Amino acid sequence: MATQRSLILCKPDAVQRRIVGRIITRIEEKGYKIIGLKMLQVTPELAIQHYEEHVEKPFYPHLESFITASPVIALVVEGPDVISVMRGMMGSTNGRDAAPGTIRGDFGSSRQMNLIHGSDSPEAAAREIEIYFKPEEICEYSLDLASWMLAADE
Ligand code: RTP
Ligand code: MG
Repeated sequence: MATQRSLILCKPDAVQRRIVGRIITRIEEKGYKIIGLKMLQVTPELAIQHYEEHVEKPFYPHLESFITASPVIALVVEGPDVISVMRGMMGSTNGRDAAPGTIRGDFGSSRQMNLIHGSDSPEAAAREIEIYFKPEEICEYSLDLASWMLAADE
């Protein structure tokens, strides 16, 4: 088990559909700690930086239009194995393939408008958190219930 951080975005469709609260509730209910949170407008420049691995792909112009179309809510979430666990909670990229019970599976049926982004590796998380958050925007604190949510020898 590794304590990790992940960069999560509630994408423009989640903001427009007013389901950000329900997405954040799932993160809180899972027991993960929110250590950074803000609303921002993604610019084309920021989109290129974030999605650099996709810039040359045919769908990139559509992805950029989508991600810049309305503000997003960005979060830094911390907890045990949070990167892979959040990817599981998000579900497959295409909402039509995403399993029921996942965020994408429960709230959408689109491949592009899939509500949430989550870092897919520790390297990506470090890179993405630096893109979206200044160090002083991250709050380090302990959760009083932490000892009831993870055994000491895990
Ligand atoms: P994300 O990076 O946003 O967490 O999503 P992901 O890993 O599940 O999917 P990825 O392959 O990284 O794609 C990034 C986002 O681009 C949009 N997309 N459109 N039209 C298409 O073929 C297509 N494929 C991907 C989605 O919004 C996807 O989340
Ligand atoms: Mg991705």
